[in-house]
Amino acid sequence: MARAGEVVAETLALVGEHARPGVTTQDLDDLADEFIRSRGGIPTFKGYRGYPASICVSPNSMVVHGIPGIYALREGDVLSVDVGVTLDGFVADSAYTFAIGDVSEEAERLLEAVQAALAAGIEQCRLGNRLSDISHAIQVATVSQGYSVVRSLVGHGVGRSMHEEPQIPNYGEPGRGPQLAEGMTFAIEPMITAGGPDVVLHDDEWSISTADDSLAVHFEHTVAITAEGPRILTAATSAVRS
Ligand code: MF3
Ligand code: CO
Repeated sequence: MARAGEVVAETLALVGEHARPGVTTQDLDDLADEFIRSRGGIPTFKGYRGYPASICVSPNSMVVHGIPGIYALREGDVLSVDVGVTLDGFVADSAYTFAIGDVSEEAERLLEAVQAALAAGIEQCRLGNRLSDISHAIQVATVSQGYSVVRSLVGHGVGRSMHEEPQIPNYGEPGRGPQLAEGMTFAIEPMITAGGPDVVLHDDEWSISTADDSLAVHFEHTVAITAEGPRILTAATSAVRS
């Protein structure tokens, strides 16, 4: 999983370098697909329940699962990019939201807050804690900044498959659910909006956007529980923002 995670991190860095005004989301998908395969990996998303592309690209008010296509990035966009890689039978999954050129102060603030919320969730990935401690920490970090957690979308266990038990909501009471144990591996992924928590599914049956058209941001890491604390398996060695 760590090796798969390295390819995921490198793919996100590469996509981030190329995510500039005028570039289409299809260009980014082509780039990611070719890179993942050149590293001996398989893009996990492609063909998953019929998903037609190798990455998910979700601009602005789109929360997750945007299908790459003709959309050309514009100065001021925020673009969530979600990447999954299968390598030697193991999966890693991570997402990063890129600022395209100069973005509004509101967007900057949301990007910072969601990264902080993810960090707060990861910080709870310690032996003896319970699963919902992760959820609760993300919720507190989000709500304290005036933002909303999308409740219908959750993080998940990850390993030989992309989606394993348990589900990991981004909200909840602390101290509930299974105790965290060495070797557990989770995809932790706050999906946060600047407005309300409601989302809508588009006609393509994949793309999900905020119901109120407010800005949405998504950060995700695959994390292992170890005796020494959380180990992020998809940490960027050279994260690049456009
Ligand atoms: N990171 C997303 C998730 O955990 C990836 C799913 S996209 C799909 O749900 F296309 F593969 F479904
Ligand atoms: Co995920």
